[in-house]
Amino acid sequence: MKNISMLINTADKRSHINPEIYGHFSEHLGRCIYNGMYVGENSEIPNIKGVRKDVIEAFKEIKMPVLRWPGGCFADEYHWKDGIGEKTQRKKMINTNWGGVTEDNSFGTNEFFDLCEEIGCEPYLAGNLGSGTVQELSEWIEYITFDGVSPMADLRRKNGREKPWKLKYLGIGNENWGCGGSMRPEYYCDEYRRYQSFCKNFSGNELYKIACGPNSNDYNWTDVVMSNLGEWHTKAISLHYYTVPTGDWNKKGSATEFSDEEYYETISKTLYMDELIKRHSEIMSRRDPEGKIGLIVDEWGCWYDVEEGTNPGFLYQQNTMRDAIVAACNLNIFNNHSDKVVMANLAQAVNVLQSLILTEGEKMVKTPTYHVFDLFKTHQGGELCYSYANNCQAGGKIPMISQSASVKDGVLTVTIANCSIDDDAHICCDIAGENYQNIECRILDNEVRDYNDFDNCDKVAPKEYSAKMTEKGFEIDLPKCSVVVVTMR
Ligand code: AHR
Repeated sequence: MKNISMLINTADKRSHINPEIYGHFSEHLGRCIYNGMYVGENSEIPNIKGVRKDVIEAFKEIKMPVLRWPGGCFADEYHWKDGIGEKTQRKKMINTNWGGVTEDNSFGTNEFFDLCEEIGCEPYLAGNLGSGTVQELSEWIEYITFDGVSPMADLRRKNGREKPWKLKYLGIGNENWGCGGSMRPEYYCDEYRRYQSFCKNFSGNELYKIACGPNSNDYNWTDVVMSNLGEWHTKAISLHYYTVPTGDWNKKGSATEFSDEEYYETISKTLYMDELIKRHSEIMSRRDPEGKIGLIVDEWGCWYDVEEGTNPGFLYQQNTMRDAIVAACNLNIFNNHSDKVVMANLAQAVNVLQSLILTEGEKMVKTPTYHVFDLFKTHQGGELCYSYANNCQAGGKIPMISQSASVKDGVLTVTIANCSIDDDAHICCDIAGENYQNIECRILDNEVRDYNDFDNCDKVAPKEYSAKMTEKGFEIDLPKCSVVVVTMR
């Protein structure tokens, strides 16, 4: 047992935690949309307008604030007009990035916006700058948001939707340094300026335009984009960083079979997110001293080798307690940088990479990662407050404890992960600021290689847990490899 002291000062409020930090991402990739979320209206699986009811309920339960769509790499080859109107008439296409399968476009704009309404989340569109046209993107905005008489608004009405939807978040391209066109940052900036000029605010709708930011530690990309796009109606730039345990994209490692050493290496790679955010933020602040432009980590999560016997282009992987620790560390990092990080989107929502949910026919499983989002949800919309842990090392390479604290409506939420798989921790936490009368805890506490599958879907699930209130704050024992939420009123 390691003793760790912690300090929280609820009077020292640091920044607002945008609910969007708890955002998600769904791409036309493998079984994320089709057979994951969308089964079609004629399916025997209970659905609302073709989307599985159990998936919608699960998304609502964690208060999903925003959903990014249609990609990913798919976005820069997506032509939205192929995905509207009578389904049997929709054009079929090849999904060239993901397995070369046929995309029948039966899930398109209307289906996506209806789904977001059902979940009660903000839609976040990734526009096609790589292989699309300015006209296409500009007409997409008109189709979605224009209330008056126009060719696109009339087309929307013809497709059964009288009133426009609201669209706030608009990404102008995706990974334009890679699958979105292999562009140099200078060239991308010129393209961004041109495309964004024709993305108009219609009928009271206000777009929040997002530029393609860097891949991982490409600091030059950030610098060029920040020095060229400041005045060009850019509200935020994106950052993509995946945790690849081995660091080798050709042999990333298994999702379920890994050594203790590989576990610690995975967490160490995940914690690199903190350095990335700090260093990109520094560059951003030099070019934007008033801090008007935010950072959006719109793709993050673990990327392993696919499960044996599955299509390599479908990126299907299991999800263990290791992923739960990864999720907790990342969410704590995003909270602690919420002065700069305005949104983050886990890749991806269903059946792809570090998913929230796995499906097989009518069966659905919530992953350990899902449960972490559930434990952390009361941070959404809170005020981050100062927290510090007198940490010790785990596995010879990572800090044992990851934590963040926030206050909302007088309720203090503290989330803590014990990242060690060797030692339990005894945390003694002093709280300065408010006095609280009541304490509640929930914990995710399993062996590091435990996961949920279709025969045992609740092996990893949160349980009620207890902590002791003290004169100064609280004390709690955290088993090795666990994630806890402490709520005080
Ligand atoms: O999430 C899978 C892929 O990873 C996305 O399509 C792409 O943007 C990134 O490289």
